[in-house]
Amino acid sequence: MFRASLLPGVELKLLEERHAYALYSAISSDREYLREWLPWVDATRSTDDTREFIDKSLRQFAKNAGFHAGIWVDGEYAGTIGCQAINWANRKVELGYWLGSRYTGRGIMTAAVSAMCDQAFDEWSLNRVQLQCAAGNVRSQAIPRRLGFREEGLIEQGQLLYGKFHDLIVFGMLRSMWERNRQGPVLSS
Ligand SMILES: CC(C)(COP(=O)(O)OP(=O)(O)OC[C@H]1O[C@@H](n2cnc3c(N)ncnc32)[C@H](O)[C@@H]1OP(=O)(O)O)[C@@H](O)C(=O)NCCC(=O)NCCS
Repeated sequence: MFRASLLPGVELKLLEERHAYALYSAISSDREYLREWLPWVDATRSTDDTREFIDKSLRQFAKNAGFHAGIWVDGEYAGTIGCQAINWANRKVELGYWLGSRYTGRGIMTAAVSAMCDQAFDEWSLNRVQLQCAAGNVRSQAIPRRLGFREEGLIEQGQLLYGKFHDLIVFGMLRSMWERNRQGPVLSS
């Protein structure tokens, strides 16, 4: 089972069915904040919905296509990070993430994205990690920037959020860049 320690008191753990209620409670208690940038919030109405998401994610894991992990802070469910199905043919993966509002401002997601990059490059031997952030989502963009991702371009009106189209900024990290960055300090708050 995937499990990683990120910071003191902060852990990444593979999402399992028994986490369905904790995941639902975290989403439910932060709906207004999360729905600004996440399209699935209104459709998450019960633990059956989070259980279904977790089942799908575990099937993905079983097929060796990547996974979603819960972020736990002092034993509380704080957020999620995960990936779309790994594209093995092109050795690349795309990440997505969210953090409950109480847990922002501490570098937790930056550490989680960094851990997922280690997973992608070291464990899965992939060549590329990609992120897409809405052009207005400055806090999300700050994460790949902080970790030395390259801003590669804009997908015009690439995301429909609650009836409004948003441009998406594409950020990419190549294995060669990640290895180079590891040799010197890139992370800056
Ligand atoms: C996107 C999101 C995860 C960003 O959260 P965040 O707290 O800003 O990101 P981090 O956990 O990496 O923390 C970075 C913050 O901690 C601070 N920080 C403190 N110690 C730090 C450290 N050691 N390393 C990095 N940052 C640190 C940074 O300065 C930054 O704060 P600032 O924005 O006030 O400058 C969060 O806003 C969120 O979930 N939003 C809703 C859903 C969403 O937008 N998802 C992404 C869709 S693309």
